[in-house]
Amino acid sequence: MIGVFDSGVGGLTVLKALLREMPAERFVYLGDTARLPYGTKSPETVGRYALQAAEALAGYGLKCLVMACNTASAVALPAVRAQLASLPVIGVIEPGAEAAADASTSGRIAVLATEGTVRGGAYQQAILRRRPEAQVYALPAPLFVALAEEGLGDGPIAEAVAHHYLDALFAPAAGAAPDTLVLGCTHFPMVAGAIRAAVGSAVRIVDSAETTARHVRAALRQAGLAQAGGQGGLRLLATDAPERFARIGARFLERPISEREVELIDL
Ligand code: DGL
Repeated sequence: MIGVFDSGVGGLTVLKALLREMPAERFVYLGDTARLPYGTKSPETVGRYALQAAEALAGYGLKCLVMACNTASAVALPAVRAQLASLPVIGVIEPGAEAAADASTSGRIAVLATEGTVRGGAYQQAILRRRPEAQVYALPAPLFVALAEEGLGDGPIAEAVAHHYLDALFAPAAGAAPDTLVLGCTHFPMVAGAIRAAVGSAVRIVDSAETTARHVRAALRQAGLAQAGGQGGLRLLATDAPERFARIGARFLERPISEREVELIDL
């Protein structure tokens, strides 16, 4: 069983990519809907929440834990790894940073994320470790989280918000714009069309959900832990409001979720 943890429904974009990469694996996904959002909370609080969630998921007999939440990965990955010493724990920051460092020609790289992820500096550090000469611009874009959950990821509102966040860096008059942009938040693949419209077709957009799924697959194969065949499986857990999880989550997972599928747990 592979555990996947997020603050809520956003991590279902990561789960969707994982299911696509590894259809034979069994997954248990925990969305901490009672305490979301993590992106505006202090590192201490996010760290405490992440440790509780990781501990709960470890009880499901995992072979690997994926921290799908960028904010939790940014501030709590070392603590969760230390707590679950015997279990491989994979966050979303390193795979996204690696893909961006590889993709960029100019070394000018933008990262769009929550306030907490930007403040923690984890993407910036991870990119600079690989490309010390890089110029990294980390931008908080909290409105995208609400837009994605409202189902307003496409269209004029999302495009106006994308221009609001991105024009200072990407508009033609802004000078030498980044050539690569990392979607450093679980929700941002849902607004990728609006982001693409704002930055133009030449910018490489790195989806940290996709890069993480490929990374998890490679890590499991390398460790001899990959599931060879079978049907796979999925359990969905939430800490509050299963009906909302099912309704909003279906858009993120791109498949219907029935409320009965979502098990309510307490941490
Ligand atoms: N899952 C969070 C992230 O990827 C976004 C939502 C939240 O703020 O909890 O950073």
